[in-house]
Amino acid sequence: MADEKKLWGGRFTGRADEGFAAFNRSFGFDRRLFAADVRASAAHAEALRAAGVLTDEEAARISRGLDALLARASEDQSFLDDPHAEDVHSFIEARLVELIGDAGRKLHTGRSRNDQVATATRLWLRGEIDEIAARVREAQAALLDLAEAHREAVMPGYTHLQRAQPVLFAHWCLAYFEMLARDRERLADARRRTNVLPLGSAALAGTSYAIDRELVARALGFESVSRNSLDAVSDRDFCVEFCAAASLSMAHLSRLAEDLIIYSTTEFGFVELGDAISTGSSLMPQKKNPDALELVRGKSGRVFGDLVALLVAVKGLPLAYNKDMQEDKEATFDAADTLSASLEVTATVLRNVRLREERAREAASRGYMNATELADYLARKGVPFRAAHEQVGRAVLRAIELGVELDELPLEELRAISPHVGEDVREALTLERTLATKSQAGGTSRERVAEALAAARESLG
Ligand code: ARG
Repeated sequence: MADEKKLWGGRFTGRADEGFAAFNRSFGFDRRLFAADVRASAAHAEALRAAGVLTDEEAARISRGLDALLARASEDQSFLDDPHAEDVHSFIEARLVELIGDAGRKLHTGRSRNDQVATATRLWLRGEIDEIAARVREAQAALLDLAEAHREAVMPGYTHLQRAQPVLFAHWCLAYFEMLARDRERLADARRRTNVLPLGSAALAGTSYAIDRELVARALGFESVSRNSLDAVSDRDFCVEFCAAASLSMAHLSRLAEDLIIYSTTEFGFVELGDAISTGSSLMPQKKNPDALELVRGKSGRVFGDLVALLVAVKGLPLAYNKDMQEDKEATFDAADTLSASLEVTATVLRNVRLREERAREAASRGYMNATELADYLARKGVPFRAAHEQVGRAVLRAIELGVELDELPLEELRAISPHVGEDVREALTLERTLATKSQAGGTSRERVAEALAAARESLG
């Protein structure tokens, strides 16, 4: 395609430096907004017709022309390979004029690329948020399926990565389910503020044509129209907010990845990662590496970077539009792509992971994880918890000396440490009792977890 005629050529007599023109071009990435920008253009044309700016005939030509462009782009991806186009907005206008002639030149009446780009980006992001929210839901469903496949299973819970107290494996799954539930809420919240129409703000001061902005909003599915034109063309909060929500979601996926990576080591050996999501080593034949999870963990940093890039890009900008804002797109696109792919692969991992129940149970039964239970036992017998804690600490020391678990300590040994220990202590220290006592809301008792699983399933609708 020949060198594009500039949208702003009139005032210029000289040509742009080719290096600068290339630097200025955004079509290489903002062509992703093609469909959104065409849709918004169609709604704008209709508003111009309703305002009496375009004749019915002109509006119909524009509408048919825009449809033809959409069809062309979906038939032939290479249609959007234009090294000369400045940005997606000028590309669409130029192709429209080629196709329908002069009527195409009237489309830009009453609008600016400033309100146009904000509109297209919002439309695009809204669709993206919906797809991502569906993927979060998929990952949540995979967590529930995994929990249900190992309903009875027990594993050690950790603090400081030291064995702490036993928990149900399903409780661990549900912990991540909760994080993802909040991620979906955050996305829904970001969507609400994204779903506001800037078109009609024109360059910065508002439009001088009698465009019915409510009509445009309705045609494009926006919930409301922006209230201030200066703000509407300058605001990239919606991108920042999305990247913040995406960052937090990536942080959650990264923690999940880290847990599974650790649990899949020979040292832990709680989970086995399926071949479908693992790789081997080119040198060490025995290796099975958790690459999928490591990539999710690694890619989280990119999304945090996108968030910071956006914040830095907007923080010093005077009102209203500045070209710095063109930098919003690659960050937002990258955050969306990275989160989307990470969610998908996480769901796949969760569907290809198996808990080694015996090993996890064995680990949950050792390492003095019932020490708190013994302290609680003494506290229930009237020993102040602080004193009980001290006494159990001594019991643990003694058990380590003898090379046994707490529940294997001879009764006399326990009695020597606290005279409050009775015959019933054995029962109190079993793994099942330890779980059963965590029976308040949010705890890991079997009843609470069964309820939580049912509620989680219900929440997915
Ligand atoms: N490509 C530009 C962007 O992404 C479109 C808006 C251009 N507006 C302007 N006044 N130069 O921000």
